[in-house]
Amino acid sequence: MTRTPNKTRPKASTFGVAQIETRPATIEEFLAQQHDQDLLRFITCGSVDDGKSTLIGRLLWEANQLFDDQLATLQKDSKKYGTQGQDIDFALLVDGLSAEREQGITIDVAYRFFATSKRKFIVADTPGHEQYTRNMVTGASTAHVAILLVDARSGLLTQTRRHAYLASLMGIRHVVLAVNKMDLLAYSDTVFKGIQDAFENFAKPLGFEGITAIPISALKGDNITERSVNTPWYNGPTLMGFLETVSPSAPVRKDTMVFPIQWVNRPHSDFRGFSGTLAQGSVHVGDAIRVTSSGQTAQVAEIITMDESLSEAVAGQAITLRLDKEIDASRGDVMSLAQTPLETTDQFEATLVWLQPEVGLSGRSYDLKLSTQWASCTITSIKHRVDINHLTQQTAKQLQLNDIAVCNIATSKPLVFDTYQRSPTLGSFILVDRISHATVAAGMISHSLRRSQNVHRQALTLTRADREHLNGHKARVVWFTGLSGSGKSSIANALESHLHTLGMRTYILDGDNMRQGLNKDLGFTDADRVENIRRLAEVAKLMVDAGMIVMTAFISPFRRERDMARDLIGAENFIEVYVNTPLEVCEARDVKGLYKKARAGSIPNMTGINSPYEAPLTPAYTADGSQKAIEQTVQELVQLICV
Ligand code: ADX
Repeated sequence: MTRTPNKTRPKASTFGVAQIETRPATIEEFLAQQHDQDLLRFITCGSVDDGKSTLIGRLLWEANQLFDDQLATLQKDSKKYGTQGQDIDFALLVDGLSAEREQGITIDVAYRFFATSKRKFIVADTPGHEQYTRNMVTGASTAHVAILLVDARSGLLTQTRRHAYLASLMGIRHVVLAVNKMDLLAYSDTVFKGIQDAFENFAKPLGFEGITAIPISALKGDNITERSVNTPWYNGPTLMGFLETVSPSAPVRKDTMVFPIQWVNRPHSDFRGFSGTLAQGSVHVGDAIRVTSSGQTAQVAEIITMDESLSEAVAGQAITLRLDKEIDASRGDVMSLAQTPLETTDQFEATLVWLQPEVGLSGRSYDLKLSTQWASCTITSIKHRVDINHLTQQTAKQLQLNDIAVCNIATSKPLVFDTYQRSPTLGSFILVDRISHATVAAGMISHSLRRSQNVHRQALTLTRADREHLNGHKARVVWFTGLSGSGKSSIANALESHLHTLGMRTYILDGDNMRQGLNKDLGFTDADRVENIRRLAEVAKLMVDAGMIVMTAFISPFRRERDMARDLIGAENFIEVYVNTPLEVCEARDVKGLYKKARAGSIPNMTGINSPYEAPLTPAYTADGSQKAIEQTVQELVQLICV
């Protein structure tokens, strides 16, 4: 057998998470080699101990996809490191292939290719970190079939149910329940049927087209390619038999042309092309196209690839479009055919899968990436989370690792979108933490919210500049942050009095005061503080639009929310003042007696004691909160405000 060099190459998935491919070098190469057979993509899900590596190793072995040198190494390693006595330890094979994966840091899914005489296969192997759902979500976005592997000795786990739910959510129509390690239970039909019944009961509401339970031993080879003599009571298909014959039907999905622009290509002044990968549908020379954001249209004059000009391009091809006239479009814009325009939304309902140990909070801002589009967004409400064991809805105030929850999301600008069901490309997105840049969630859009479709910005005659002109000064937000008792309100108060004598229009938004009105429904949990600051930022923004100098005196303990406020209000209008009074001093002052209560255990989440405070990294001004420094602080702040 000839062997293709063992290259690895990261590739973006639907969810934009890095992936890896192993031999042949590319999917395209593999498909080219196998072009006369049809293709099935499947994913294997299970915990490490369920025998996933062994199963994939076994499938590759049975499909004769191992090279002689690999086989020799495998036999040698099995004797040396294997856990299976004289038998071959297939897990070593897959784990060996994984070694290359460990060189990269963000690689989550390895794709393995193999073929039998009937069909070719791409299996998404989602190894490691069994507690993380991320790998499963990445691999499942393109799979036709999910193999849910369970250890016959432990039966269904919460993890199995979660994987089944995700598979259904992501549009997979067929699941195989591979009940593994039957050899360790003397091939007991009672155990198998018990697990099969429990799963079928659980999965009924998930609406799969087919659920096929197969008793196997990946290690011994039972019911993998040949029907096992050890399970005479079983008369269903073997695993390979099933994979070779199942119809890879995908849900009906929209085929509208979608071309997200990755870059505007301008090598010299006579040429301007729009480059990217055609995400959906096809485009021909002569087609009229539309840029969704501006509505501008033009005709396709040329379709260019790395090596040639084409008359037609189809989904998956990397192309540059040259148009018959100049139009405004830039990175992140999305083109469609003129007669099939794409929809946009800035508020939608989506199912989020939370991928990060740090909790997700309603009201917090995240960066959202949908295809090539970026926007900032907030989770405006968590409608419910799914109890994965009973498939019921639970109320939730925050999102924990592996939670699946239906949420409303609002973005900072309209994005081209579709529902996930119709278009995985335009219906899926990821949320990225604004500070750590980690992918915190994957999301699938269910629908746009009518509310946002029917609400339009109302144009007003007078502008902020008109109001500033009348006031005779610029509008600003002076954002004080610091511990309770640090002196925020005292400084803000002195500053306002001073500005007032200078004839400036001012207002103080104070935490304690706002919590008695607009924010009286909020307490001091992290989630409530996030919402407290979100409302504060929105009010401060309105006051800036009204042309005023606004001072905010809130603890505002989280950097993310202060960054959100800065973005919302505009960095040029925003002066962050850190009132840096040490906890000991605040506690000694204890103006409201709260620290004493907190130390006595009667306040469960007092900032600085048992709730975090994140000091600003680069405040515009750091104030000393002691009484005697106030005069000077005010003078210096006035300088900052009046530049
Ligand atoms: S923030 O954290 O959400 O920004 P905010 O500034 O509105 O807090 O309110 C802080 C004020 O609420 C404090 O000055 C204090 O008077 C009062 N307070 C009551 N309980 C707490 C608590 N658990 N932590 C901090 N402040 C509290």
